[in-house]
This record gives sequence, C-alpha cells and structure tokens, in this order.
Amino acid sequence: MAQGRRDIFNKTIQTKQQIEWVDEYHKNGEDIYIMRRFYPVFVDDVFYYVIGYGVDISELKKAQDQLKMVNSNLEEKSNKLQITNTTLNEYKENLESKVKFRTQEVEESLEREKELGLLKTKFVSMASHEFRTPLTTIKATSDVVLRYFDKLSRDDIIERLEKIKSEVDDMTVMLEDILILGKSEVQKLHYDSSILDIVSLIKRLITEYQLSESENRNIVYNISSPIIEVAADKKWIKHIVLNLISNAIKYSDKAEPIEINIEQKKSSVSFCFKDYGIGISKQDIKQLFEPFHRGENAENISGTGLGLSVLKKAVELHKGKIEVESEVNKGSSFKVTLPTNNN
Ligand SMILES: Nc1ncnc2c1ncn2[C@@H]1O[C@H](COP(=O)(O)OP(=O)(O)O)[C@@H](O)[C@H]1O
Ligand SMILES: [Mg+2]
Repeated sequence: MAQGRRDIFNKTIQTKQQIEWVDEYHKNGEDIYIMRRFYPVFVDDVFYYVIGYGVDISELKKAQDQLKMVNSNLEEKSNKLQITNTTLNEYKENLESKVKFRTQEVEESLEREKELGLLKTKFVSMASHEFRTPLTTIKATSDVVLRYFDKLSRDDIIERLEKIKSEVDDMTVMLEDILILGKSEVQKLHYDSSILDIVSLIKRLITEYQLSESENRNIVYNISSPIIEVAADKKWIKHIVLNLISNAIKYSDKAEPIEINIEQKKSSVSFCFKDYGIGISKQDIKQLFEPFHRGENAENISGTGLGLSVLKKAVELHKGKIEVESEVNKGSSFKVTLPTNNN
C-alpha cells in the first residue's frame, strides 16, 4: 500500500470514522477520477478490518465541469445582455429628448413664421397708406414751390419747405420704428445705459418736440423732485417720451392740457403722461402693445400702430414696466416705471 493510502488507513482506525477521497490519474490523455472510501469495522470496540472500495466517477466529474462551464457562460452572457440593455435605454432616452427638442424648435419656428406672415400682411396694408400719404403731400407741396416759385413770397416758400421737412421727419420715425421691430429679439437691440437726470431730459425732449411740430399744447408738469437720476439709455428714453407725447397730443383735443407726472420712488422712477382725449376701449387695451394694432376709435387718425410696441421694447430693455389706464372719451394715462439702477 502506498504511503499516502497507508496513512489514511491508520487514520480511519484511529478515528473510527470512514474517510472518503478522490484519486486523480491521467491515462491516454484523459482525466480519470476515482472516488475511494475506507470504512473501519469494530466489534465491541475491537478492530476487525477495514472495508475499502473505489468508484470511477470520471463521467460524473466531466458532467459537473461541463455544467459549471455552461453556468459561467450563461452568467457572462446575461451580464453582457444587461449592459446592452442599459446602453439601449440610454440611447433611446437620448433620442427621445433630441426628438422632443427638435419638435419644439420646429413648432416655435412655425409659430414665428405664422406671426411673421401676419405681420407682413399688416405691414403691407399699413405701409401702403402711411407711406403714400406723406409722399403725396411732399410731391404736391414741392410741385407748388417749383411751379410758382416766382409768385410765392419768401415766407410762403419757407412754410412749404417746413411742411416737407416735417413729413420727411415723420416718415423717418416710422422707418426707424419698423427697423426696431424687425429685430425680433430684445437682446439684439443696442442698449447703452448711463446715469442721467430724467427730469431735465423729459423736459428738453418735450420742448424740442413742441418746437418741431409747432404744437403749442398746454403741458402741466408735476415733478416730485427737481433732479432725479437714473441709469438709462438716452436714445431709448427719447423713443419712450416721444411716443407718449405724440400719442397724447394726437388722440386729444387741442384745447385740453396734457399732464406729465414724474415721481421718484425708493429704487425707481416713474413718469406718467395723462391726456383728456378719445380714450381706449378695454378690448383695445389688451392688444395695445402688439405691432400694427390700432384702436377702433383711432381709425380716422393717421398712425402706424408701431409706436407702443417700440415703447414696450424700450421699457423691457430698462427692465421697467408700463401701465395703462383709460376710459373711452374721458382720456388715457400711460405710466412707465424704470428701476433707478437696472444692472
Ligand atoms: N393717448 C392715447 N389716447 C388714445 N388712444 C391711444 C393713445 N395712445 C395710444 N392709443 C391707441 O393705441 C394705438 C397704438 O398706438 P401706437 O402704437 O402709438 O400707434 P399709432 O399712434 O401709430 O396708431 C393707437 O392707434 C391708439 O388706438
Ligand atoms: Mg403713436
């Protein structure tokens, strides 16, 4: 008996326990496994003999190994499947969000396209009237000057040239408004703020306007403090003020005054233009700041419907707000509030 096996033999007698082990051989390139067992026999605590036997379990072992391999293969495959599943899910989510984003973009641009189409229609009908009228006046007036130059007095000629100039000025404002509204986003508009005294600026703009329009309307100021400093863009304030004063004058009777209220608050300044004119209906107030919108009671008074939409942009640039109060045939008030410091 080989030494190893003898040791087991002795151990099984010593411990009085059966011992089981597997012997491994290699024969003709094949692995052979023999399961062996020693079983000690005692009678009345006296050792008799050891029963020993071996069983060839090579086939069983092979089957077990194969099963193990299949199992581990399966595990690996299921891991891989899980990974592909996660990747697929991620891909799907990514695609879904991209599709959503693009759809939104397309919808927005369609909406914008629609709006632009509508604006174009409104623009054409406005322009055909609002451009033709001043052009006709300019043509007629210059015709008169050319034809009767020798017969007209110097003052007559100056008066007509002034008329032409004022029509050209009006057309320039109109063109400027159209250009501003053509820039769709507020961000694209140039805005350059500096600290300025809003009181003297408003007063100067109104005086200049009255001189150029030879309008002698009674303007009543109510100002909370002689100097009110605010961070603002002079050019845009001019747009706001000229829009408000020209509307107040245009939509009210010559005999009525226009009240301008400038008030300094803790961190803002507000200026309010009040007239006693034709007023605005509740329905029109809702659409007042949309380009080309004109009140139903303003149809016989010339206008483009652009002034207030430009004003709205100017107020937005200053992070300010605009409030309107009006009653038909009683009058209107437009109040602009700007933060003193809008940075
Ligand atoms: N002070 C006002 N009194 C009455 N209606 C006004 C006044 N200001 C504006 N509106 C109404 O708002 C409309 C839009 O004004 P605006 O954008 O300045 O365009 P426009 O004066 O060229 O028509 C006007 O057509 C008019 O119906
Ligand atoms: Mg106007």
